[in-house]
Amino acid sequence: MAIEQTLVLIKPDGFKRGLTGLVIDRLDQAGLELIGAKMVGVTEKLAKEHYKDLADKPFFPNLIRYIRGEFHDLKANQVLALVYQGEGAIALTRKVAGATNPEQADPHSIRGSFGRVTTQGQFENVLHASGNAADAEREVKLWFKPEELVSAARAATNGKH
Ligand code: TYD
Repeated sequence: MAIEQTLVLIKPDGFKRGLTGLVIDRLDQAGLELIGAKMVGVTEKLAKEHYKDLADKPFFPNLIRYIRGEFHDLKANQVLALVYQGEGAIALTRKVAGATNPEQADPHSIRGSFGRVTTQGQFENVLHASGNAADAEREVKLWFKPEELVSAARAATNGKH
């Protein structure tokens, strides 16, 4: 299996409910390597670009409000953005996260344990995890500059240790 990189976001519900450490712990336990991490204030532009493939969905406007923390009183619109690397990292991260709909997710997964569907029908599912190789590549580039990722290969070519 190939070494992959994938984007994880601790969404506002996960952040507000104190699940940041748990998510990082579960991904650590799965054997994934953390190579990038930063708090990001999510602008409307970034949110819409990130979710551009869902722009025609009825839940899109509320999805943009959700990822910007508007339902969780996050005044700085902040999320924690992470990049994980490892063999089959994309599928492995999705497995640890669980299915998109928390009500259908494996109860042992993060979303199955801690996600919820609001009475308005919005999925609050704790974290984002890139869906496939093309999305992962696009999303890692959208959220991180290459120099923000800790990479052994880059350290070697820069002479940094
Ligand atoms: P999607 O990209 O389909 O799922 P995933 O996050 O697992 O890759 O959807 C993006 C987000 O949109 C999802 O995490 C939660 C929200 N969403 C809803 O609120 N309602 C829905 O019916 C769907 C499909 C998604």
